[in-house]
Amino acid sequence: MRTVYVNGDYLPEDEAKVSIFDRGFLMADGVYEVTSVLDGKLIDFAGHAARLDRSLAELDMAAPVTHDELLAIHRELVSRNGIEEGMVYLQITRGAPDDRDFAFPDPEATPSTIVLFTQNKPGLADSPVAKQGIKVISIEDIRWGRRDIKTVQLLYPSMGKMMAKKAGADDAWMIEDGHVTEGTSNNAYIVKGGKIITRPTSNDILHGITRAAVLRFAQEAQMEIEERLFTIDEAKDADEAFITSASTFVMPVVEIDGVPLGDGTPGKVAPRLREIYLDESRKAAI
Ligand code: PDD
Repeated sequence: MRTVYVNGDYLPEDEAKVSIFDRGFLMADGVYEVTSVLDGKLIDFAGHAARLDRSLAELDMAAPVTHDELLAIHRELVSRNGIEEGMVYLQITRGAPDDRDFAFPDPEATPSTIVLFTQNKPGLADSPVAKQGIKVISIEDIRWGRRDIKTVQLLYPSMGKMMAKKAGADDAWMIEDGHVTEGTSNNAYIVKGGKIITRPTSNDILHGITRAAVLRFAQEAQMEIEERLFTIDEAKDADEAFITSASTFVMPVVEIDGVPLGDGTPGKVAPRLREIYLDESRKAAI
C-alpha cells in the first residue's frame, strides 16, 4: 500500500482523508503539479515549484509549505514508496470552510489543503509507445480563458481523452479559432522542413515545464524553433509532430484525425529530442 502525504502527515493511502467541504471537491478550487521521477530522482523540481507559486499567486492562494519543505516531502514519498520511475502528484486547494459558499473563505480561518501521492511507472522512460508514436484527434477547445494556471478543473481534458479513445486514438489536440492550443494534458508541436513550430505561451495554454526545457535543448542543439500559432490543417501537412509533458517527456505523434504524418512513423526530430531531454534531465535530476 502506498504512503501519501496529507496536511503534514505521512499516511497509508486508505487512512488519508479530506473533508467533504473541501473547495477542491466542491468547486475545483485548487491547483496541482506533476513531477516525474527517473532513477529515483526528481526531474525539474525547481521548474514545477516555480510554476506552483505562480498558479497559487494568480488565484490568491497562500503557499502552505516552502520550496524546501516541498522538496523534502517529494523525496520522502519517493523513498517510502520505492519509486524508481514514476510521478509525484501534488494538489493544493483553498481548504475546507464550515459552509459551502462561492466567496473565498478567510485564509486565516481556513488553511489550504495539501495532498501529495506517487504513481509508480516502471518503464516510463523506455516506453514502447514512444518508439511507435501516438495518434491524436482534433476537438474544439472549450476550456476557460486562464489555461496558464494549472488548476484541477480537468473535466474537459478528461472528456477529450475519452473522445480520442472512442475514435481509436490516444489523445486529442484542442483547436481554438482554427489554431491548435495544446493537447489534453501536454503541449503540442509540429515539425516542417526541420523547423520546430509551437504555440507561444500566453493565457491560452499551460506553460509546460517540459516545453521550456525541450526548447532550450533544441536551441542548444542548433535546431530551428518558431513560436507561432499553427492550424490543424498545417499540422496534418507537417513532416512530424510531437507532444511534451512531465509524464510523456517528448512523445512523437504519427497521425492526426486519421491522416498519417510523413510515412506514419516517429521521424527524426522528436526521437532525437526525446533522447536529449532524457539524458539532460537525468543529469540534472535531484
Ligand atoms: N499535464 N498542457 C496541459 C493542459 C497539461 O495538463 C500539461 C501537463 C502540459 C505540460 O506541462 P508539463 O510539461 O509541465 O508537464 C501542457 C500533466 C502532466 C498532467 O495533468 O498529468
